[in-house]
Amino acid sequence: MNYQNLLIEIKDNVAVVTINRPDKLNSLNAQTMDELKNAFTELNSNDDVYVVILTGSGEKAFVAGADIKELNKLDMISGKEFSEKGQEVFNTIENMSKPVIAAVNGFALGGGSEIALACHIRLASENAKFGQPEVNLGIIPGYGGTQRLTRLINSGRAMEYILTGNMIDAGEAYRIGLVNHIYPQNELMSKALEMAGKIISKSQYAVRQAIKAVNIVNEVSGREGLNHEAGLFALCCGTEDFKEGTSAFLEKRKPVFNNKQPE
Ligand code: COA
Repeated sequence: MNYQNLLIEIKDNVAVVTINRPDKLNSLNAQTMDELKNAFTELNSNDDVYVVILTGSGEKAFVAGADIKELNKLDMISGKEFSEKGQEVFNTIENMSKPVIAAVNGFALGGGSEIALACHIRLASENAKFGQPEVNLGIIPGYGGTQRLTRLINSGRAMEYILTGNMIDAGEAYRIGLVNHIYPQNELMSKALEMAGKIISKSQYAVRQAIKAVNIVNEVSGREGLNHEAGLFALCCGTEDFKEGTSAFLEKRKPVFNNKQPE
């Protein structure tokens, strides 16, 4: 498929998706949101893709939020549709069967912070800046940010960022667990690819069950979550990868996974 605002490169089982509107700091207009939905849906069913990396074009911004020019036209009816549609796009990312790594290469504001939060892992460049500045515009985060940020950090901090609109730098984002690692900008992509390569060397069947098991925490908690985990663990035990992984360890050799589903 051809995209106007996305660049997609697939190589060595990794898809790099770049949001490409650098003159508007990669802000998310309706066209870009539609393209993201289509692209992630396609990548999810592309058997050649094991890991997806999401980044922004240029050196200044990852994504500077929803397109404020489009926001400006919303009313109560279209605002609800806008929020629900955006949530659906970001849910598609969060529910990808394969890992999605955000390589946050600059401003990640509003919807930019929210799309990073929907990814499974976040890496940041030293110049990255995060924030939920929606209150400055008279709105609140509407693409899942109130929920995902609160779950990932804690409600006190999430409240502070959402209520003040303050921006935080990469160091602070790392300190509070919003990003896993910080790298110089010119190393960010190679580090993201290195992480992707590490994941690719594992059993992809196990990797995908692990994503499901961790994501279940968003739906249920306590005993129910543990039950889901046990079910997914059991599925892994039915695979050739499991036999191979455990045998390889015992035989002191590297495993060779075939990534097949259990019979
Ligand atoms: N929506 C639409 N356009 C945006 C945008 C957004 N969220 N963020 C940046 N842009 C555009 C600017 O309007 C400008 O376009 P122009 O050159 O046609 O005037 C261009 O991108 C460059 O942005 P600019 O503001 O000139 O860059 P800056 O370095 O002075 O400031 C930011 C960078 C990120 C601090 C500033 O652009 C900003 O605050 N953006 C909005 C962030 C926001 O509130 N996001 C949440 C939306 S819910």
